[in-house]
Amino acid sequence: MKCKSAVIKLGGSLITDKSSPRTINWDSLNDSILQIYKYYKESNAKIVLVHGGGSFGHYEVDKIRKTKNVIDSFSTSLIQESMLTLALAVLKSSINSGIPASLHPAHTICKSNVKDCNYYPIINDLNNGLIPITYGDAVFDGEGKIISGDDLSVQISNIINSDCLIFATDVEGILDEKGNLIRELRRDQNINIINRNVFDVTGGIINKINKAFNSKSNNIRIVSGKEIYNALNGEDVGTKIISL
Ligand code: IPE
Repeated sequence: MKCKSAVIKLGGSLITDKSSPRTINWDSLNDSILQIYKYYKESNAKIVLVHGGGSFGHYEVDKIRKTKNVIDSFSTSLIQESMLTLALAVLKSSINSGIPASLHPAHTICKSNVKDCNYYPIINDLNNGLIPITYGDAVFDGEGKIISGDDLSVQISNIINSDCLIFATDVEGILDEKGNLIRELRRDQNINIINRNVFDVTGGIINKINKAFNSKSNNIRIVSGKEIYNALNGEDVGTKIISL
């Protein structure tokens, strides 16, 4: 079924070059945004956009953790600055393609975790026809804490009751140990999954799957960034996560 409402998470590995600090993958970012614009124009669907940290947030956190045990207030500020820089690129790409986007940095709406955020500004913009953007971020609550974009996506999908939750990544979906695409994944399924060894302060692919199981959306998928339009259009692409 075509998505009437969707939360789309653009993974950091899709929109940045993870091998190079603070580097945007403009081709991939612009291509992802154009697909979203095309679907939005055709369908008038309600869409919330969330993005990850990639070589901005993850790189910054990794660097801080090498020298400090905790994320202090100044380090929090550094992470926020790097994520805001990436968010402005996502906003710019969205506006250039014609999307009426609005930006909601998570540190301006969340206290210490995704269950403790004021989502009203996002919901309000969504109800007024905008495409709100938020992203994985750092907040300071006596100590610095990382808010994961995956957690934000699941939480928002449940709050707005979106029928779709699409995680767009730089791979075609979840791959088994032989490198074949797993088309459907259920909670009780025991599958050996390729866990790519890239730096990721919020837990990598296994963690992403476990988080996705907490969404009540009917159509939860982990897809390639090239399949965002097709996923929104209801096609059977990537890995479908069956959470019920
Ligand atoms: C990470 O967000 C945010 C920070 C490191 C500040 P995500 O965990 O959602 O990022 P990706 O998609 O894995 O890069």
